[in-house]
This record gives sequence, C-alpha cells and structure tokens, in this order.
Amino acid sequence: MHELYPILSWTLTAIVLLAVLMIFAASVRNGITPMPTSRPVRRMVMREIGRLPEGCEIVEAGAGFGTLALNLARRFPLCRVTGVENSLVPLLVSRLLGRFNRLPVSRLVFRRGDLFEYPYEQADLIVCYLHPAAMRRLGPILRERAKEGAKIVSVFFAFDGWEPDSAAVCGDLHRTKVYVYHVRKHPLDVRV
Ligand SMILES: C[S@@+](CC[C@H](N)C(=O)[O-])C[C@H]1O[C@@H](n2cnc3c(N)ncnc32)[C@H](O)[C@@H]1O
Repeated sequence: MHELYPILSWTLTAIVLLAVLMIFAASVRNGITPMPTSRPVRRMVMREIGRLPEGCEIVEAGAGFGTLALNLARRFPLCRVTGVENSLVPLLVSRLLGRFNRLPVSRLVFRRGDLFEYPYEQADLIVCYLHPAAMRRLGPILRERAKEGAKIVSVFFAFDGWEPDSAAVCGDLHRTKVYVYHVRKHPLDVRV
C-alpha cells in the first residue's frame, strides 16, 4: 500500500498542474480569469435584481466556477439559471457544485460555449462580470439578440454608449459597481 503513495501523489500533482495550465490558457484567450464575485458583491447583485416573476430565464454570461449562478438558483427557486462558460476546468467545477447542491437541471444548468455565440432570446435576465473589451463586444450582440425589456446586471464594467438604469456602489474594498440596464432595441426612439 505504501508503495502506492508516491504514485498517487505524483498523479494528483500532475492533475492539479494540468488544471492550472488549462485555466491559465483559457484566461489568456478570454482576457479574464474565472475569478468569482465576492460575497458582498453577490449580495448587491441580488439586491439590484430585486424580485423576479415565476418562470424567469436567467443567463449568466461567463459563469466561471458557478458560485454566482448557484446563488441565483437558490435565491430564485422558481426561475431557471443557465451559466455559459468556455473554460473547461471552471465549467466542470460548476457542474459538480450544482450536483453537490442537489439542484436539478430544470433549475440550474451549465453550458459549455462562447458567450458571444449564445442566442439570449429566451433570457429575461442576463448577468455578467467580464472586462471592458468583452462589454464592448457584448453590448451590440445583446441589443440584437435579447428581447426588448430584458434586464441586464453587469458587475464592475459598464456598456459603452448605454445609459444604465442604476449604478449601485458596493461597500467592498474595490467599491465595485453593479450596473442595471434594460434592453432597448431602438434607444434613440425611446429618448425622443
Ligand atoms: C470574472 S469571471 C466571472 C465569474 C462569475 N460570473 C462570477 O461572477 O462569479 C469571467 C468568466 O467569463 C468567462 N468568459 C470570458 N470570455 C468568455 C467567452 N467568450 N465565452 C464564455 N465564457 C467566457 C471566463 O472564462 C470567466 O470564467
């Protein structure tokens, strides 16, 4: 039995190293790490979302390790949460998290995919925590694909050229902002 310990420990080390390398490669490709939102920011996100009607479709664009999506699924038990993530290791962790928390796929599901390719047309609420370049790219995509009036909650970063409904400041170390938007297909028409 003792002869097995070095083999086990080397195998475990190799797996951890491979996972770290995979996360690193995906982070370079995506321009952002899978860093989860902190607890105070998660609380602020929930507050900014407010109440949701039964049957709401929530999409988290870039779900990372799935902690925010899990909190959303717990907070809104009558809604369905879909986390979209293209980084394999965080995706696997998020799926395990869902399983451990006994959340059925009817309430929480994690899909492997590119958030810029996702259709969004069913989403009533879209939540994201990305980076400025991703926000510049995602803004026009959501205006085109998401339905009129869909709510968007963005952690830290704003959309270029969109007027937020609100921008709450969290009391955390970074004074993180949480922006709330609604999709307006023709924003200029609305303002006239
Ligand atoms: C800062 S993390 C946010 C994690 C999670 N949303 C949270 O708030 O706890 C951003 C996530 O977006 C993912 N991401 C970035 N670009 C992506 C893309 N094009 N398609 C899918 N996921 C992407 C990253 O892999 C990362 O996990």
